[in-house]
Amino acid sequence: EAAEKAGFEHFMMKEIHEQPKALQDTLNSVVRDGVIDLSEMGLSDEEIQGISQIYMVACGSAYHAAMSAQYVIEDLAKIPVRVELASEFRYRTLLLDKKGLVVLVSQSGETADTLAALREAKSMGIRTLAIVNVVGSSIAREADNVFYTLAGPEISVATTKAYSTQLLACDILAVQFAKVRGAIDEDRYKGLIAEMGTLPEKITRILQDKERLQWFASKQAAAHDVFFIGRGIDYAISLEGSLKMKEISYIHSEAYAAGELKHGTISLIEDGTLVIGILTQSDLYEKTVSNMVECKSRGAYLMGLTTYGHYNIEDTADFVTYIPKTDEHFAASLAVIPLQLIGYYVSVARGLDVDKPRNLAKSVTVE
Ligand code: G6P
Repeated sequence: EAAEKAGFEHFMMKEIHEQPKALQDTLNSVVRDGVIDLSEMGLSDEEIQGISQIYMVACGSAYHAAMSAQYVIEDLAKIPVRVELASEFRYRTLLLDKKGLVVLVSQSGETADTLAALREAKSMGIRTLAIVNVVGSSIAREADNVFYTLAGPEISVATTKAYSTQLLACDILAVQFAKVRGAIDEDRYKGLIAEMGTLPEKITRILQDKERLQWFASKQAAAHDVFFIGRGIDYAISLEGSLKMKEISYIHSEAYAAGELKHGTISLIEDGTLVIGILTQSDLYEKTVSNMVECKSRGAYLMGLTTYGHYNIEDTADFVTYIPKTDEHFAASLAVIPLQLIGYYVSVARGLDVDKPRNLAKSVTVE
């Protein structure tokens, strides 16, 4: 097993470090000569043009990737997107548009609820597209079209590289759908693809700064509650950051759309409560800062996660982590890295079984 960990103490840390390669491999599988080619997936341009509505259905971290995708697809491709938890989707009266596309996101391709949702959609005659990591898995076999993420095998129960490739796959679909439907011009299209190509190297840069996060995490290891807040894509990232924290460190954590705090949750903020504000979206930056200030005035200890250049966050936050600049549609791919590292280091500092957290399974094949 030591050999399989390639010198890392845990699979999770090894897999965190495999993210640049996982993203590069996934990109290389569909980008040729600077343009996206989805022909192997079997979805024609005509079909893409005819999509009236996208329903994204998933569980766990895959659901969080879908949450981020909602913002990216709607903003770039201008197609309405609904995001659904598979375990809810399948038990509702489904009023799906026949010209819609149901996108199932699943690392394992075996999650029972996601598989059942796929079957439900198919039985209604709606086209299905699966974003799956495991070749030949049930969801991959049964969906009409498959986009394989190339994360490679993931051992750690807490997903890192598979989630990151799901995010990227969704971004690739958003960019291609935007182009095919005429929502972006050729220059913007090529620029976005080139920008996606810079993500692996930017992740590598974030990983080089991990010791600072280790120091921060060790100081927070005794926390009782952690709140992750953000708006838009930053809210989607908050959901994933919060899940990483709670699933491997057993610290109670919650993600909140920052503007929603004042409707109840802010009463939970006490002296020293850790609040992590995520601020990668320029147009929402000031709004989230003001929510952080509200938390601070109630005694919160604030961490800010933003892009280089937003140095005035240091007027508000007690601890700041910066990520490289990118097109803001792709910010989740970078912002999640420090959050994975913090979750990991808190778990290690608490002496827990990072790769095999209690009560959790890698693949949930029961309903
Ligand atoms: C389990 C795993 C999670 C994962 C979820 C969905 O709960 O522990 O990491 O996000 O299942 O799995 P899937 O294979 O469908 O992406």
